[in-house]
Amino acid sequence: MENAVKRIGVLTSGGDAPGMNAAIRAVVRTALNHKIEVMGIYEGYQGLIDNNMRFLNYKDVSNIINMGGTMLYSARCKEMMTEAGIETAVSNCAASGIDGLICLGGDGTFRGARELSRHGVRCIGIPVTIDNDISCTEYSIGFDTAVNTVLEFVDKVRDTCMSHARCSVVEVMGRNAGHIALEAGIATGAVAIDIPEVEFDYDRMIEKILRAKSQGRRQFIVIVAEGTGNTDKIRNMIVDKTDIETRIAVLAHVQRGGSPTAKDRVLASLMGNYAVDILLNGKMSRVVASQKREIIDLDIEEALNKPKVFDKRMLEVSEVISI
Ligand code: F6P
Repeated sequence: MENAVKRIGVLTSGGDAPGMNAAIRAVVRTALNHKIEVMGIYEGYQGLIDNNMRFLNYKDVSNIINMGGTMLYSARCKEMMTEAGIETAVSNCAASGIDGLICLGGDGTFRGARELSRHGVRCIGIPVTIDNDISCTEYSIGFDTAVNTVLEFVDKVRDTCMSHARCSVVEVMGRNAGHIALEAGIATGAVAIDIPEVEFDYDRMIEKILRAKSQGRRQFIVIVAEGTGNTDKIRNMIVDKTDIETRIAVLAHVQRGGSPTAKDRVLASLMGNYAVDILLNGKMSRVVASQKREIIDLDIEEALNKPKVFDKRMLEVSEVISI
């Protein structure tokens, strides 16, 4: 049977994340190997609305698997939330001969893809965000690199805490989710981890710090997810109740940059390849996900409605072994 898809588009939207380039590379190479043309759409949905796109070939995606950021650039596009914006995007897809669209990003990106799908554009979403807050997938592309970036910085901060007998309250990204904080907190041996999913126990943190201090401990790391909004309060409480000199370190956008880890490169390659395959097999309005070490796909609507399961056990383990 002749393939209905002759030309696809690929775009990256929302907050960038390490591994986006590796996924673009996988999409482009898989499509070209099936003799499908690929249009790279620049600056996310904005590029679709502005007709900012061009053909990509094998060479265009050479030497990018190791690069952070996104060669297609990204944007958070307000116009895509309006009916007029969606209609322009749909008619530009048709005018450019795009039979299918692969959209890399988070929930906001998938909502855009869902709207385009409702207007007949075949869309496949690939989960890319450092926050790992996409409910349908155990891992989103970029999360592992961000956690490793946090580790690198916290290990450095710990050196100087040790020298000066200080505490550092490290604020990490994650939007409304605590996944980066939780993994990084365990991996750095933080004395306490504050995440939006669970109410923080200030008394317990102070009790642990005082106990460890009395046993001769000199350095303390507390990891706070930005979504809690508790960073200043935690710092002030530690200063007031323990008399330990305490500094705040906000890691901010360093967590979004840098070369992707092996895990993110592999995940991006597998998901990019899978997304093209299901598009060519006639699927539309799907999101690619990783579950139990397998790449699968599910309906966009279902993906958007699933609640993200938070691993409470990880926080409990951290409580037991942190001091
Ligand atoms: O979603 C990724 C993320 O980096 C969040 O962790 C953070 O809250 C947000 O984006 C920051 O957005 P901006 O890049 O617009 O400052």
